[in-house]
Amino acid sequence: MKKIMLLICVSAFVSVMGAKAQTTPVAKPAPAAKAALNGEALLAKSDCLVCHKLHEKSIGPAYDQVALKYKPTDANITMLADKIIKGGTGVWGDMPMAPHPALGVEDAKAMVKYILTVKAEPTK
Ligand code: HEC
Repeated sequence: MKKIMLLICVSAFVSVMGAKAQTTPVAKPAPAAKAALNGEALLAKSDCLVCHKLHEKSIGPAYDQVALKYKPTDANITMLADKIIKGGTGVWGDMPMAPHPALGVEDAKAMVKYILTVKAEPTK
């Protein structure tokens, strides 16, 4: 009887350890992917989509075109985040982008990171 109890204990212990070993390697989402997700949510909450569409020119340029134009380097992300906060014109035409002074730099950067992941739709 004792032996059986011991066996049960050992196998329970082994299976707990086994389960643990299986769950640990499941990595958290990469920081970049997380920023992109937050950026998408932030965009949806803000007024961006009033003037921007993902795949079509609207009042502002389509985000897939912005993603084609800029590589996601730190310099570009900082520059574009700054432009979203301060507003600006002259890159895509004469239409100005409204400033967003209430937006934090980190939020603006998260939005830019998301925008720069928008891929152009395959041409139909
Ligand atoms: C009032 C309309 C309007 C709103 C609202 C708006 N944009 Fe824009 N956006 C524009 C226009 C117009 C341009 C093109 C500016 C230019 O030619 O320099 C632009 C350009 C951009 C660019 C590219 C800038 C460049 O220099 O290439 C990014 C990135 C961008 N917008 C992101 C955003 C985000 C993020 C938001 C929301 C926080 C937002 N926009 C809200 C009109 C708007």
